[in-house]
Amino acid sequence: MRQSSLVVVANRLPIDDSVAPDGACEWRRSPGGLVSALHPLLRQTPATWVGWAGGTGPAPVLPDVDGVHMRTVPLSADDLRDHYEGFANATLWPLYHDAVEQPEYHRRWWEAYQRVNQRFAEATAEVADPGAVVWVQDYHLQLVPGLLRELRPDLRIGFFLHVPFPPPELFMQLPRRAELLRGMLGADLIGFQRAQAAHNFAQLATKVLGLPATDRRIGVQDRVVRIGAYPVSIDTAEMAALAARPDVTARARRLRHDLGDPERVILSLDRMDYTKGIEQRLKAYSELLASGDVKVRDTVLVQVAMPSRERVGQYQILRDRIEREVGRINGEFGRVGEPAIHYLSQPFDRAELAALYRVADVMAVTPLRDGMNLVAKEYVAARVDDTGALLLSEFAGAAAELDRAYLVNPHDLDGLKQGLLSALRAGPADAGDRMRAMRDHLHRHDIRAWARSYLSALDDTGSLLTRLSSS
Ligand code: G6P
Repeated sequence: MRQSSLVVVANRLPIDDSVAPDGACEWRRSPGGLVSALHPLLRQTPATWVGWAGGTGPAPVLPDVDGVHMRTVPLSADDLRDHYEGFANATLWPLYHDAVEQPEYHRRWWEAYQRVNQRFAEATAEVADPGAVVWVQDYHLQLVPGLLRELRPDLRIGFFLHVPFPPPELFMQLPRRAELLRGMLGADLIGFQRAQAAHNFAQLATKVLGLPATDRRIGVQDRVVRIGAYPVSIDTAEMAALAARPDVTARARRLRHDLGDPERVILSLDRMDYTKGIEQRLKAYSELLASGDVKVRDTVLVQVAMPSRERVGQYQILRDRIEREVGRINGEFGRVGEPAIHYLSQPFDRAELAALYRVADVMAVTPLRDGMNLVAKEYVAARVDDTGALLLSEFAGAAAELDRAYLVNPHDLDGLKQGLLSALRAGPADAGDRMRAMRDHLHRHDIRAWARSYLSALDDTGSLLTRLSSS
């Protein structure tokens, strides 16, 4: 069994199981996100990524990717239904996002969550070197730090939550709230996107478990668990370079032409998820069309909604509702050859995504609640000529950093309409100032800075940090 000094544990492996034209499965490194954050580090140290390869049945054996060992964890059909679709995405996901949809509680889902977390912990214990640094990611695996510490007390364990952590009033609903908190507290360092989340967690540690806690430290028996905010970011330079490529610039021009050379293009790009505020945004847009503040010929909305978690009931209902609404708006306000909304529900490659960002005069990112929202950051990184306006929900983690965006409360329909109009009508000087300030921020706070600050806090022996600074 090969062992590593750095182990990343995440529900998904950093590869796509996209299907090649001949029908075969093609494995490749996913763009963006965690992989690019950790890539420089993972390459330089014997590293393993523990995760699920998608699908059910026995875990496939995968080749190393860029020298990183892939340790697959299998999910059975029951695990997929009860762990991934059930407890992770129909209990925790809605609960952690302000319960904008009703979280469901089932004892069978909880059993599956425990079982799958145990499997991840055992796989990790097998591949970690003595004293290795282990970094566990996200809400699917909140029990792993505790389970892993029981198996391997020698490890340095970090946990990072990519989604919001809810206020005590909401978290208290969870039937197995104490176990979940204890699971996270198996870590040496628990990272959140925002300081408010760390505060919520500290309050709960005291309220539910009776532990002494501040917003930075929690006492657990003879250990101190540190907590804090480490807002995740993107590979800013990579996105800027992609957006500046001549073929991407040419593609953006072509897209604008295909959209009928309108004065203004608005882009929204979301996973099809009820947390993203897609319905509220469509309603605001349709009211602006009805009042004549926005005219179909001058302004075009491109709404990309990528299918997600398609077997979960709430996602199916949402997709039906959104597609009906898009059809209604196009039926009412479109003309032949000129739809009011260009609706696409398909994945795009990175170059096409960058071209879409470049064509968008206004990017509308208006989730009801979002841990961070990396699309907002990608848009800013892609605006290499400092033009464009970002309309951003106050309830996205990104709003704490991108405060020069046009900030809106997506629950306030009039405010949303007003924000959209302000972004559409922004003068070039003001828009340029805002965009430059946000781009500057993202250049200083990119994904490498994120990984570096988290891992240096986790690994106070400093050995990983030394490798990071030389990368
Ligand atoms: C969110 C979560 C990620 C998750 C992603 C896509 O960003 O924080 O952990 O991977 O959504 O969702 P999926 O269910 O397809 O993994």
